[in-house]
Amino acid sequence: MINSSNIKNESVRKVVEDGKLHIFDHPLIQHKLTLMRDKKTGSKDFRTLLTEISLLMGYEVSRDLPLHDVEIETPICKTIGKQIDGKKVALIPILRAGLGMIEGLLSLIPVAKIGHIGLYRDEKTHKPVVYYCKLPEDIQQRNVIVTDPMLATGGSSVDAITMLKERGCQHIRLMCLVAAPEGILKVHEAHPDVKIYVAAVDEKLNENAYIVPGLGDAGDRIFGTK
Ligand code: PRP
Ligand code: URA
Repeated sequence: MINSSNIKNESVRKVVEDGKLHIFDHPLIQHKLTLMRDKKTGSKDFRTLLTEISLLMGYEVSRDLPLHDVEIETPICKTIGKQIDGKKVALIPILRAGLGMIEGLLSLIPVAKIGHIGLYRDEKTHKPVVYYCKLPEDIQQRNVIVTDPMLATGGSSVDAITMLKERGCQHIRLMCLVAAPEGILKVHEAHPDVKIYVAAVDEKLNENAYIVPGLGDAGDRIFGTK
């Protein structure tokens, strides 16, 4: 995790110190993120890199998942081992771009259930508009990991988390790739219980509420729609 004294924004630094923001400084993640930011990187490589980073982030995001004891037999004797309550995890991508983080997480937690929340940002107001929500039936009993590569104004993540809480979810983490300080602070203010994981805290938002320097439109770059 990044040393909080390296974070320029004082309010964001406090969120790190509160233990509610984890910023990954692992060299593999930083290297791959630089490749993703490069506008010359095409959709195929962009998707692969996002999957690889998601897997690396998933190691930390899943650190405090509950374990239970299981009895097994080694070639030598019976023993008690630990097993993750993998069936109790739900991955919730915010459509579209959040989908790009699911494959990497599934390779770590293959039995996780997947729900989908469809939100798009209105181009003029930059406010999120809901168009889809389909969640596992027992979502309120699950440890939820919400995925979205971009945390810009924070509106989409705040609304997605609110929708999950309205359906009874209590254990929610938010996994993003690039965040603006504005987005981190908005999520933390609305949902102080939710731990946020990011690979980078960028400088600011521009007049179109895009992250600067950012990586552009994540959905378009993943799916090649522009
Ligand atoms: C992008 C991104 C986030 C949202 C972030 O989605 O994937 O969901 O914007 O912005 P915010 O923090 O200001 O809400 P977009 O609305 O472009 O939809 P898409 O994933 O379908 O392209
Ligand atoms: N959505 C994106 O895909 N990128 C941004 O920089 C902001 C919102």
